[in-house]
Amino acid sequence: MASESITKTIGVVVAICFVAAIFVSSAAVGLKPIQEENKKIDLLKNILIAGDLYKSDDIDVNDVFNKNIVGEIVNLENGSIIPESQYDDVLNLKDFDVKILANSSKYGKSIPPNKDIAGIRRMPKDMAVYKVVKDGEVQKYIFPIYGKGLWSTMYGFIALSKDLHTIEGFTFYEHGETPGLGGEIDNPKWKHLWVGKHAFDDNWNLKIRVLKGKADRNSSNFKYEIDGLSGATLTTRGVDNLVKFWLSDTGYKQFIEKLSKENTNEKI
Ligand SMILES: Cc1cc2nc3c(=O)[nH]c(=O)nc-3n(C[C@H](O)[C@H](O)[C@H](O)COP(=O)(O)O)c2cc1C
Repeated sequence: MASESITKTIGVVVAICFVAAIFVSSAAVGLKPIQEENKKIDLLKNILIAGDLYKSDDIDVNDVFNKNIVGEIVNLENGSIIPESQYDDVLNLKDFDVKILANSSKYGKSIPPNKDIAGIRRMPKDMAVYKVVKDGEVQKYIFPIYGKGLWSTMYGFIALSKDLHTIEGFTFYEHGETPGLGGEIDNPKWKHLWVGKHAFDDNWNLKIRVLKGKADRNSSNFKYEIDGLSGATLTTRGVDNLVKFWLSDTGYKQFIEKLSKENTNEKI
């Protein structure tokens, strides 16, 4: 009798586990498309945040994005824009995913260790760049950026003004730094410190840097300097490195120089 009830109990437990496993796995499979869609919307939302176009949680993200943003894919090696005719299933704006592209043997490349200050090992050969356009005129450029913090790779965007010198926005949309320490990279007050800072000097030397500690208001370099996060020196150093990586020759510099020449020629 006792052994019969043990068998029954085990049977019931196994049956419950089986049903629960089916339930959990079908929920995971069923919810995947929704999760993917939400991830894409979150990415667009963060592009809008970098472009100062996310004014409230009530906005229709797709609508505001489509009305204000024009994306392009840029060849980082020579700064040229890739024609849409060369887009395919992986390299296109709709599905643009830096992780997939970086890890692909066709679309990604490994970074020589002496140049890999962002600590990312691999990167896409081509990157998406988003233009904020108003009345047919480009107002800002928004660049995807990413690099290692203390615990995680931090993914975000930096927006530059039309003249490509002034920083207009800065945000991260994915990271695993500690809330209250490195996680303060999400603090709106800290992100706001970036706005109005100069990334380059007049000769296009990259000058922006994140300090350990506070920037000195009276210093002639104040316009290039961001306060570091206290108690999070390693995350801060990661942010400093990744911004330098993406705004230099290893990242968007060729594209930026090309654009600045075009802008100068337009004015002549
Ligand atoms: C549980 C725990 C989590 C931490 N998370 C971070 C972090 O996200 N980013 C960071 O730079 N430092 C973090 N630190 C602190 C680092 O270990 C290190 O002490 C710190 O970066 C030094 O910064 P400070 O010179 O500003 O004190 C963490 C420490 C502990 C114990």
